Amino acid sequence: PTSPQEIAKYAAARQAATYVEGGMKVGLGTGSTAAWLVRRLGERVRDEGLQIVGVPTSSSTAALAREVGVPVATLDEARWLDLTIDGADECDAELNLIKGGGGALLQEKIVATASDRMIVIADATKRVEKLGAFPLPVEVVGFGMNTTKMLLEEMLEGLDVMGNKAVPRMKDGTLFRTDEGNHILDLHLGRIGNARQLALILNQVPGVVENGLFIDICDVIVIGHGDGTVETRD
Ligand code: A5P
Repeated sequence: PTSPQEIAKYAAARQAATYVEGGMKVGLGTGSTAAWLVRRLGERVRDEGLQIVGVPTSSSTAALAREVGVPVATLDEARWLDLTIDGADECDAELNLIKGGGGALLQEKIVATASDRMIVIADATKRVEKLGAFPLPVEVVGFGMNTTKMLLEEMLEGLDVMGNKAVPRMKDGTLFRTDEGNHILDLHLGRIGNARQLALILNQVPGVVENGLFIDICDVIVIGHGDGTVETRD
């Protein structure tokens, strides 16, 4: 890593990798910070003979894990995990998160929920007072997506948020597709007054598969800084 932000992500990932012990089943997150973690675990497998099973939260993480020599299994094979380590797009003081900037929120939430502990690794820019400046990703099925978008925007008008625009995520000129074959609506909310309530309400809209609010799921956050130091909060 060369830029201060990459040094921060690397430092957080390296620190979090020390929580991983032999024999553990470990959920492997998605994104640039989680990629540092997967590479570090690959080094530990090679250099220390660390024996672990990794459960990737996306096809890209699965490919990276194989490349760096971390043995992988599916969640159905592993059933329950000791630990998941993942990045985040935002994290507040109560360790509630916005995730899904990389589009992997559904598998990430399933895997983190199936773990005894979740550790988030992030650079200091991810820490916020109030969630919502980062657009909240919501995974929706393709069928009736425009209607789902309309329903979501109407529903948001009655809630304690600043904005209510739901923007279909695009990639290469077409709708972004998740690993599960769904699409993403990014909700431009500005500021989320009550994240706990919003997380519940969003999933009641037919067509919504899951939302990127992680409430009471994260146990520890390891924040990295550009000078290579880290701080841990739980
Ligand atoms: C992936 O879907 C997201 O939840 C990521 O965890 C998030 O986007 C963080 O990515 P970076 O580590 O690249 O910032």
